[in-house]
This record gives sequence, structure tokens and C-alpha cells, in this order.
Amino acid sequence: MPCRSMASPHWILLLVLLFIVSGTMGAPPKRPVAVPFGRNYAPTWALDHIKYYNGGSEIELHLDKYTGTGFQSKGSYLFGHFSMQIKLVPGDSAGTVTAFYLSSQNSEHDEIDFEFLGNRTGQPYILQTNVFTGGKGDREQRIYLWFDPTKAYHSYSVLWNMYLVVFFVDDIPIRVFKNCKDLGVRFPFNQPMKIYSSLWNADDWATRGGLEKTDWSKAPFIAAYKGFHIDGCESSVEAKFCATQGKRWWDQKEFQDLDSYQWRRLLWVRTKFTIYNYCTDRVRYPTVPPECRRDRDI
Ligand SMILES: *[C@@H]1O[C@H](CO)[C@@H](O)[C@H](O)[C@H]1NC(C)=O
Repeated sequence: MPCRSMASPHWILLLVLLFIVSGTMGAPPKRPVAVPFGRNYAPTWALDHIKYYNGGSEIELHLDKYTGTGFQSKGSYLFGHFSMQIKLVPGDSAGTVTAFYLSSQNSEHDEIDFEFLGNRTGQPYILQTNVFTGGKGDREQRIYLWFDPTKAYHSYSVLWNMYLVVFFVDDIPIRVFKNCKDLGVRFPFNQPMKIYSSLWNADDWATRGGLEKTDWSKAPFIAAYKGFHIDGCESSVEAKFCATQGKRWWDQKEFQDLDSYQWRRLLWVRTKFTIYNYCTDRVRYPTVPPECRRDRDI
């Protein structure tokens, strides 16, 4: 086959494609973006329990017997990609919960939750996720992680568009919530959300169902954060739609479903690390919740 010159139709096609792709306003981040805390976030309460390092590019949340603490995004967003790098409370973290979530502000609220339930030294954390739509939650899934989340930073992120919500751990999908409005299930699409994180004491339920209590002699409990990247459609709190709907990278075809590699990774997580999945809880839900039917392999 002869070599093709730069001006061959294939090259022109490629340039046109590149132009179209760059026209979708930003590309997905391939690696964690080192965005400082203050650009996107502000503390929510107990300001003296947040410590700043490296000019605010890394922070710590401290929990002691007086209080936990937390922070929230300055902006509200309708769709996008939201990630955080977190190093969870090391050692004896039993009774503590570290959360990273998106939530709308009203009563019929939408919420997308990561909750990390601490444990005694050497015992595994549980990652609980949940999705609330129109104020209705009760969609818990629980997994163990395939690494020790206290030893190093790992990234936790949410991809949210009109088609689905995906939870990622280090870019591996651990959960998908598809838009099933055709099956009568509400999907978060018209209420902007803020991003929140917090560290607090929840020893009434968190560890072994509340049997393991927080050992305050080990305080302060410290979770560390960096990479405060947000790539979302910023909207006023009252907005009902995103002004650039359909034009951003997360709206494009390749982000409207997982690809086959991602489905295989998700299946790997489900088969190897699942502790609990409301979709398979026939005691609590005698009939399969409709959205679970789009949740392959269930
Ligand atoms: C804590 O460790 C125990 C014992 O290994 C385990 O059963 C439990 O699932 C772990 N995690 C939590 C949050 O309770």
C-alpha cells in the first residue's frame, strides 16, 4: 500500500473530526487535575477543623469528640464530571464516616452519594453508594475496595449526564444508574446540585451496624484531600436546564453508556467486592426495582 500524503482525504477527515471534538467544549481529564481547594470549594462548618497545605492544593478534615467538619462547592451544577482525590482516615477509623456527594438543595431532592464507613485497624472500609431522585433514596449498594484507601490518594468521581450517573473509583466504574424515566423512575435532570464532602461521627450505624464505637482516645481522625477538579455545567440554583446542554464532552455519544471494557470492570467489581445491593434484595424489594432491570447481569 502506498504511503499517503498529508493531504489525503483521510487526513482531512481526521482534522474535521478533531475540530468537531474540540468543539464540544473540553475533553475528559485523563489524569487527576491539581485544582486548589479555594477555586471551587468553601468550608461549610467548623472552619478550624480544616487544615490547608501547599497553598491550599491539599487539605485535611479533622474529626474530634467536639465536631467533624465539611465543605461544599461554591457553584451549583447540572451535569458534568466531578472528582476528588481522598486518602481516608488511617488506623482505627471505626465509627467515622467520610462522605463525598452531590445534592440538590430542596425537599424533593436529588442526591448521588459516596460514603466511606471506617473500621478498626486492619479491618476493611466499606464504600456505600446511594442515589436519591425526587426525594426517594433506599438504593444502597455496598462494596469493599480492592486496595487500602488509607495508604494513598485514590480518585473518586461521578459522571452525570442526561443518560446515566456513573460512580468511578480510580476510573473503574463501580455503579451505574441509568435514566429509566420510560419505566417511571425519576432521574436527576432538572435540579442543579452542589458537591459536598464531610467527615463525622456515625458510630450508631457505620461500623458493623453500630456495634463498633468510635475510640475517642485515637482522635483526631484525619481524612486528606486534593485534586478539587470540577467540570460541570454551572447553573443558578433555580435553573431548570443547562444552558450548554448537548454540547459538552460528557453529553457525547461515548459517554452515554459504558463501553464493553467498562462493563467488564463493573462486573468484576460486582462479582468480587459486593457486600450488598438493593437490586438483589428480594426481602426488601420482592419485585425488582425497575431501574435495576437496566443494570446488566442482575
Ligand atoms: C469492618 O470489619 C468487619 C470484620 O472484618 C467487617 O465485617 C465489616 O464489614 C467491616 N466494615 C464495616 C464498615 O463495618
